[in-house]
Amino acid sequence: MCGITGYIGGREAYPIIINGLKRLEYRGYDSAGVMVFDGKEINLSKTKGKVSDLEKITENKNKEGGIGIGHTRWATHGVPNDENSHPHISNSGELVIVHNGIIENYATIKKELISRGYEFKSDTDTEVLINLIEEVKKNEDCKLGKAVQLALKNVVGAYAIAVFDKTNPDELIVARLGSPIAIGVGENNKEFFVASDASPFIEYSKNVIYLEDGELAIIKRNKGIKVRKINTDKEVDTKIQKLELSLDQIEKGGYDHFMIKEIHEQPKAIIDTYRGRILGNEGIIRMSGIDDNISHFTNANRIIIIACGTSWHAGLVGEYLLEELTRIPVEVEYASEFRYRNPIIKPNDVVIAISQSGETADTLAAIKLAKEKGAFVYGICNVVGSSIARETHAGSYTHAGPEIGVASTKAFTTQITVLSLIALKLAEAKNTMAKDDINKYLELMKQIPEQVENLLKIDSEVKEIADVYKNAKNCLFLGRGFNFPVALEGALKLKEISYIHAEGYPAAEMKHGPIALIDENMPVIVIATKRGHYEKVVSNIQEIKARSAKVIAIVTEGDTTIKEIADHIIEIPDTDEIFTPLLTTIPLQLLSYHIAVLLGKNVDQPRNLAKSVTVE
Ligand code: F6R
Repeated sequence: MCGITGYIGGREAYPIIINGLKRLEYRGYDSAGVMVFDGKEINLSKTKGKVSDLEKITENKNKEGGIGIGHTRWATHGVPNDENSHPHISNSGELVIVHNGIIENYATIKKELISRGYEFKSDTDTEVLINLIEEVKKNEDCKLGKAVQLALKNVVGAYAIAVFDKTNPDELIVARLGSPIAIGVGENNKEFFVASDASPFIEYSKNVIYLEDGELAIIKRNKGIKVRKINTDKEVDTKIQKLELSLDQIEKGGYDHFMIKEIHEQPKAIIDTYRGRILGNEGIIRMSGIDDNISHFTNANRIIIIACGTSWHAGLVGEYLLEELTRIPVEVEYASEFRYRNPIIKPNDVVIAISQSGETADTLAAIKLAKEKGAFVYGICNVVGSSIARETHAGSYTHAGPEIGVASTKAFTTQITVLSLIALKLAEAKNTMAKDDINKYLELMKQIPEQVENLLKIDSEVKEIADVYKNAKNCLFLGRGFNFPVALEGALKLKEISYIHAEGYPAAEMKHGPIALIDENMPVIVIATKRGHYEKVVSNIQEIKARSAKVIAIVTEGDTTIKEIADHIIEIPDTDEIFTPLLTTIPLQLLSYHIAVLLGKNVDQPRNLAKSVTVE
């Protein structure tokens, strides 16, 4: 959560920082701030609200200067207000900081600093950190880099920080532990860009250094970067990586919102995810992460999938896929529960961690725990070079491209695509399926992108349904088997962007409680595909209709039975049941999107949420 940016070089820092913050707003958007140094004065502006509000308050201010830092916030300590917004400035007025993360022992440090005469304007842990740095700098009579390093040794928590010192304005100090930092390196080491991910500087530099946990970088204008380990002071040989991201990938491209753009990108995202992994028509699946570690999987007694949110829902689909095709027992766990409950990991257990951002704090901590307990950990991530991608023993990327809308869409379908490939590959390796059957599944998988493309044409139909139900206070989503996780995901999408209360349930569980809620005011969305326990779901729909609720049914094309009983039907193309989640989820994404837009909600930046949850 929170996005940080920084610039040092020969250009004006302000526009680079502001544009960068706009690209990082997905990380948090309850307040924003910027500091630029014009050679004499620190000019600092910050406000509750979005980056656009920040721009308004800086309109008539001095914004000149070739060095600066900026911040877009997702509040952890202190309500979102002007005072709690970053950057924070030290008591002397010389040091300025932006911070993403949480300093857990800030209260103790704050008490100590107060006893030494420090005063605090905000409720934040970050203001404590900058004053701790100031105190260390004063006591040790050292430069900023050393002071930051020594101060961080006394800190418990997570951070990505950028720090500026007015008395040495040709330098920025950045450091990380648990929260990401990318440094863009300009030509001839003349200018440098700092950000929580590389998107703020892709038009300026394709050369990027990703700091590792426990590293601190001293960045000097026109000179270069020195990276050290915070704890040992050892100098680190940094690796410059080439960025493959392009500007059009992170822009809306004519769509009203990133979410709808990303929904429409799914056919391509799914192809990009299996491209190069399904070879020819011979049914060969090549996934180097699996190939190189195949014995871990073939000897696995159990697979444990860990993830959060939408990625956890994809994990549940993975459970159905892996158990059905490979007969390996699978458990799916919330990373946040797994990490705190002393889980039993047996020899030969394989852990699969799923994360779009690759930065989710709970998933990262769960991975570290699983590794400590001796498990082989495989990652499924979207963001290349992310912390989870680096922390896992091996893995496969979902090639969805940047997902900027806070509500996850194409990440979900591409995660399911990777899980399907893994399941089929392991079925082959373990001989649990005939080669011909594997081939048939792969052929069906290759039809999915076109089927999604056709399905997306129902957009206006779904919008009409959205218009009818946009004022509902509650909604129920029901599905069975492979489509039970899709029901959970449909409910999550609706609640997070429209703020309508929604619950997902296995259809058969309805009788054990939720049926009490059903009346004429409750829309019920039922996934009722032809091959998925169809008769049972038809009975469930009858039970709902008997209680006067409205039913929106997602059915296989050509269905006539449900057409007679449901209030609305949305048809999906026919495929094998194991691939239906890739199709049934599309109308549910569209339904949530249209309801939220019709209600005037900010679909790309729903309240209280952030795209990358780097605090637990
Ligand atoms: C829902 C959503 C969140 C994320 C969750 C995990 O639309 O976006 O529930 O799925 O925060 O994030 P990742 O996949 O980045 O680990």
